[in-house]
Amino acid sequence: MDTLHLIFSKEQVNERIIALGKEITETYKGEQLVVICVLKGAAIFFSDLVRHIDCPLELDFVRLASYGTKTETSKTISFTKDIELGLSGKHVLIVEDIIDTGRTMEFLLYQLAARGAKTIRVATLINKSERREKTIDVDFTGFSISSGFIVGYGLDYNEKYRELPAIYEVQIS
Ligand code: IMP
Ligand code: MG
Repeated sequence: MDTLHLIFSKEQVNERIIALGKEITETYKGEQLVVICVLKGAAIFFSDLVRHIDCPLELDFVRLASYGTKTETSKTISFTKDIELGLSGKHVLIVEDIIDTGRTMEFLLYQLAARGAKTIRVATLINKSERREKTIDVDFTGFSISSGFIVGYGLDYNEKYRELPAIYEVQIS
């Protein structure tokens, strides 16, 4: 049985999304941008967030897989679904569920940097610092935590708990 401890309520999440939407709206000042959802974890955050950004948007989706053997350090990341929009000359905002080691975001930023975007920024629901290996410039953060395994509001543990409306720390037993 897993034990879930509430860390951010539905109301707290909703409040942060509204504030982030405002921050993003003020940053882009009505300019058009491409918002990229990193599937699957960011899907719920993304769909709520885009409805609070008051700028013309184009939406797209990417899915990444990280394959590895036993040791985490041997993991390699690849696209299992690339975005479909061209990014040349556009403002791009990547929306991620959680940044942990930073490897996934570093890979994605490196891949997208070659596509001629005018700017690339990063929004993450959760910025988890304790295991960070790669320096990632996070422009918009929902919540900062140092450690713990987080589920709910899109985040999963073995594909479970994504549908929960609040954010929990899971204790696996
Ligand atoms: P990275 O270590 O920054 O590359 O994060 C890789 C991916 O691991 C994230 O996009 C999440 O999908 C997943 N992940 C990392 N920490 C957690 C967590 O606490 N809960 C759920 N997924 C996590
Ligand atoms: Mg993810």
